[in-house]
Parts: sequence; structure tokens; C-alpha cells
Amino acid sequence: MTNATPTVMERLKAETQDLHDAAEGHAFQRAMFSGRLSREQYARNLEQLFLVHRDLEARMRSLRNEHPALAAVVKDEQFQEARIREDLAYYGAAPDAARPTPATKRLLGQIETAARERPLALLGHWYVLEGSKNGASFLAKALRKAYDLPEGKGDRHIDPYGPELRAKWQSFKDDMNGVGFSDDEADTLVEGAREMFEAIARIGDDLLEPATA
Ligand code: HEM
Repeated sequence: MTNATPTVMERLKAETQDLHDAAEGHAFQRAMFSGRLSREQYARNLEQLFLVHRDLEARMRSLRNEHPALAAVVKDEQFQEARIREDLAYYGAAPDAARPTPATKRLLGQIETAARERPLALLGHWYVLEGSKNGASFLAKALRKAYDLPEGKGDRHIDPYGPELRAKWQSFKDDMNGVGFSDDEADTLVEGAREMFEAIARIGDDLLEPATA
């Protein structure tokens, strides 16, 4: 251990570790990672992700024009809406007909408020979604097997970077660390990240309910 001040990325990782562990243990994630969700259940989750990405990404596209910190980190290649649309089409679901579960509705409300009052919290949300691509490369393997996916079909949003995943994640970390966030700003990022992890867990709860009813 050194006494060096942690970078913002070290803080984000350390201060959300409990929620990442909980995410890995969540019944919905476990079912998804072991290929035990039906295609329909999987598509329902994709619909919720679609609603979240569509909303958050539209806000980020506009907010990054006003906030240099967002402009320094949020890159076009990170946007997932178009990829999720393609995946939904593969599973035969219509993205624009997707309806939010109660937890998704609540998250969209939080995003709306944060966009007005604490845009940096949205960058904390962004960290969670971008970081989730790390575990998603394992998920891609499970899904290809479970749903017998042809090359490049139904997995666009899960494995968007292919072999460049590690390099892209390193650039994201460098960009975040390069902004020079104050401690207060880093606090807001951590809050935003924790809110996003919690929201994803609640969405998983919503999606499990009908399956267990
Ligand atoms: C069974 C489920 C999951 C597994 C197996 C998993 C696995 C992983 C792995 C292997 C890493 C890379 C760790 C590293 O190289 O340092 C990672 C990072 C990450 N994952 Fe997951 N993950 C899962 C679920 C999730 C979920 C549901 C989310 C959020 C929605 C998420 C968000 C993140 C984030 C933000 C990071 C980056 C952590 C950091 O270095 O700051 N993960 N995950």
C-alpha cells in the first residue's frame, strides 16, 4: 500500500466494488451468464437496456457540448443504441415498442434530474455501462453457445470492440484520469456510478418477477 492519492478510476473501482460483486451474484445476471435465460427473457432485458442507452446517449451527445469533462471522455464509438437496435432486430423485437419496467422508469427519471442538476453523475453512469463491456466479453461467449448465434449476430452491443477491448478500456481510464476531477467532482462520479449499479440490479429484479410468478 502507498499513500499516493488514488486516481478517479481507482476510486470508482474501489468504491463500487461491493455493487459489482452484488451484480455478479444477482440471479438475473447469473442466469444470463450461464445461458439459462430464454431468448424472450434475454430480449426483454435488451429492451430495457435500449431504453436506458437511448435516453442517456441523447443527453450525453448534447451535454458534452457544454461540459469539457464529458467531451474528453464520451466518444462516439462508446454509444450502444444502434448496436442494441440491431441485436433486438435479430431477436425479433421492436425497439421502439419497448416499455420501461418500473425500475427503468425510475432510472430514466433520475437521469432526467441529473442532466439538469448534476451532469457529472451521468458520467458516473457512463463509467458503469462502459466498464460493463469488460465482463460482457465473457457473456458473449455464453450467449453465442446458448442461442447458437451466427457470427456477428445478436451480440453487437455485447462485444463491440472485439480484440481491442483492453486497449479501449485503458483509453477510457486514461481519459477519465486525465480530466483532473476535484475530490467533490469525484464524489459525484462515484454517486452516479453507484446509482447506476443499483438501478441495473432493480431492473434485473423486475425482469425476474414474471419468470418466477
Ligand atoms: C456475472 C456478471 C459479471 C461478470 C462475470 C463481470 C466481470 C467483470 C470483469 C472480469 C471485469 C474486468 C475486471 C478487470 O479487468 O479489472 C469487470 C469490470 C467491470 N464490470 Fe463487470 N461483470 C459482471 C457484471 C457486471 C454488471 C451487471 C455491470 C454493470 C452494469 C458491470 C460493470 C463493470 C464495471 C463498471 C467494470 C470496471 C471496473 C473497473 O475496473 O473500474 N459488471 N467485470
